[in-house]
Order: sequence, then structure tokens, then C-alpha cells
Amino acid sequence: MSPRLAVVIVAAGSGTRLGAELPKAFVALGGSTLLERSVHAVAGMSEEAQVVVVAPAELVGDATELASRAFGAPVSVVAGGVTRQQSVAAGIAVLAGSVEVVLVHDAARALTPSSLFDDVVSAVDARGHGVVPGLPVSDTIKRVGDDGEIHETVDRSVLSAVQTPQGFPLADLAAAYAAAASEETDDAGLVAASGRAVSVIPGDARAFKITTPWDLRRAEELIAGSGAAAVAAPRVGFGTDTHAFDPSAELWLAGLHWPGEAGLAGHSDGDAVAHAITDALLAAAGLGDIGGVFGTSDPRFVGAHGSVFLTETRRLVEQAGFRIGNVSVQLVGNRPKFAPRRAEAEALLGGILGAPVSVSATTTDGLGFTGRGEGIAAFATALVVHSRQV
Ligand code: CTP
Ligand code: MG
Repeated sequence: MSPRLAVVIVAAGSGTRLGAELPKAFVALGGSTLLERSVHAVAGMSEEAQVVVVAPAELVGDATELASRAFGAPVSVVAGGVTRQQSVAAGIAVLAGSVEVVLVHDAARALTPSSLFDDVVSAVDARGHGVVPGLPVSDTIKRVGDDGEIHETVDRSVLSAVQTPQGFPLADLAAAYAAAASEETDDAGLVAASGRAVSVIPGDARAFKITTPWDLRRAEELIAGSGAAAVAAPRVGFGTDTHAFDPSAELWLAGLHWPGEAGLAGHSDGDAVAHAITDALLAAAGLGDIGGVFGTSDPRFVGAHGSVFLTETRRLVEQAGFRIGNVSVQLVGNRPKFAPRRAEAEALLGGILGAPVSVSATTTDGLGFTGRGEGIAAFATALVVHSRQV
């Protein structure tokens, strides 16, 4: 990949004014972090771009995982500096040689729509110099002295409250950083100080910076009210399976081998617990059912253990854009006595699925095929959540 466009997302600040336990970019907003939301917005741009995230040194590993998942491809993450300006410089230092236009974005502006990124790129291309989004100032602005005395009213018609992403020809930004003699709070300030043109285009109210706890609450409310929460609603699925006992077979159930117990008949190993979970997960993710996905005629699954189905199901569910939330499954039958190995089964299945799995067992008071000891049944529910939220 040799993109001509790059986006540097600065996320290395500590978030003193927000006052959360974690650095600001790692704080959750509607179920995903500010960093993930910013990366997701970049992923929605119309032109392919190199993405570089600048994170606190001790969180480079976490940032790599979060950002790459949100972007859907590996993202490079570098450690930031003491000031925002140093963090941006660290990001610029690792841009690909092919990059001609660079956008710098605050992770803290987590609700910025992808369209604003596209607008900035188009304007940089059209004008050939730096472009920043900005909004008119609606409050009356006063210049005041140390004692609080008002000296004058500033003409707000000439003011703009600027946002990010700020876009520049890379040559302009790199030259401004190389020559930087002052500490500026944004990149436009540095580029303008180096004598290069920068102009303002219309910004977007959603690109506001989350700085204080009040800003974070406002962002939460905007998400809840915009229907984005509904898009990200979790999904449940249900699945059942039944197998008859086959005393000549080995018993495999809930992913475990049960020596000395009558086995179950089936095309695979007859692990009804694993199969019910598979169906529940596929249903939750809208991927159909076990017969359609794995096919009883597929020779790869003859005698296959439950772990094979579950591992592949997890891969498919994650590929479809979901994470497994949790799974609950109930086994119905007279044998085997399940309780002594419940913890072992839950740990095994939970490890395979990367999510909590609860397994319970019951009998049917001698009624029905399970009560007569002819076979067993399993019933499972699964919850999945969207891994890429709006
Ligand atoms: N930033 C950065 N490196 C720094 C300081 C800031 O990458 N040394 C980033 C922040 O992560 C944020 C953006 O610059 O995305 C805007 O800065 P700001 O809103 O001031 O964030 P913080 O510095 O984290 O917050 P505070 O000033 O309240 O500590
Ligand atoms: Mg700061």
C-alpha cells in the first residue's frame, strides 16, 4: 500500500480536565472508546489513507489492538510526547514515503463524522494549502484584564472556533514542524507561524472536543438520541440440539471427553452442547444455522469435535463484525452426571469462545426421551455485540 493520504490521530494526552481514571482516548463513550470512535470515522473516509495513532507510551500495545480492530486492518501506533505538538511530530515521523497530504485529528473529537475528513481532503486538494474546519462563534466575546474588568468587545464576525481534522500538504506541515520555534495548541497555528497559508472551511458541530465531564455527558446523550445506540444494540440467538445415545461410541460432551460413559450418535462426535451453542451463535450473528454453515455432507466434519465447530463459529461471528458477549447452555438428560465437571467445561468453552459460557444441566423426571435415557438435548442462548460501533 502506498497511499498519498495519511491521518495522524493524536491520543497521547492524559485528559487532566476530564479527570477519568484512564487517559482520555481510552475512556468509554457508548460502549467503545474515544480512540476507537475516531479511528472508525477515519475508516469511513472515501479515500484510502495510512493511519497513525499517537498514544501514551505505556498504552501503545492497547492502542494497537483497539485501533486495528476499529480500522479493520493493522494500524501503526507510536508513543507521544509531553505536549500535543511533540505528539504530532512523533506521528509525522513515521509517515509512509508516498504521503503527500496529511490530516491531523484529535482523538478527543470522537463524534466527528467521516464526511468532515473527506471535506478537508477535498479542500486541501483544491487549494493546495492548509485547511481547517471551523465554526462561527455565537457568544459575545470580551477581552478582559486580570482583575476581570472588561476592556472591549471583540468583533466576533472575524472569529472562527477551529476544530480537527486539520489538513495540509505534508511538505507544509513537515517544514513548519522542522522550523517550530513556539508551542502552539493546533497545527494551523504552527503552519501559519511558518508563513504558509491556512484557510478555514465550514466545520461540523459534532466535531466538538470532549474536554470536561460535561462534554462527555453531552456526547453520551447525542449518541443515545441519534439512534446510533440502536444500531449498536446487542443481538441474541437461540439454538438446540438432540442426539441419541450410542453405547458403542465414546462420549464427548461440552468439549470434554467422558471416559466410561455411553457416547452419542451423529455425523460428528454428537456433542449436543457444542452444537446448540454453535446454532445460537450463528443465529445471533444472522449467519444461518449449523447445517447450512458446516454441511452434514462435508467430510471435514466427520467425527469432528465440538471445539472445531466452536472455533470456526467464533471466527465467522467476528468476521461478521461481532464480538461474543456471553453464552448460556442447558443440557437435558439423565447422564452423564454433569455438576462435577461444570467448571472444567465452562473454562474450556469460555476459552474457545473468548467470552463467559455458563453450562447447567437438568433431568426431566423420567418423562420423554431424555427421561427414558434414550438420548440428550441441549438448549443454548448467545449474545453478540457489534465490534465496530457507529
Ligand atoms: N494530545 C497528545 N499528546 C499530548 C497532549 C495532547 O496526543 N501530550 C492529544 C490528546 O490526546 C487529544 C488532543 O491532543 O486527543 C487534544 O488535546 P486535549 O483535549 O488537551 O487532551 P488532553 O491533553 O488529554 O487533556 P487535558 O489537557 O485536559 O489534560
Ligand atoms: Mg491538553
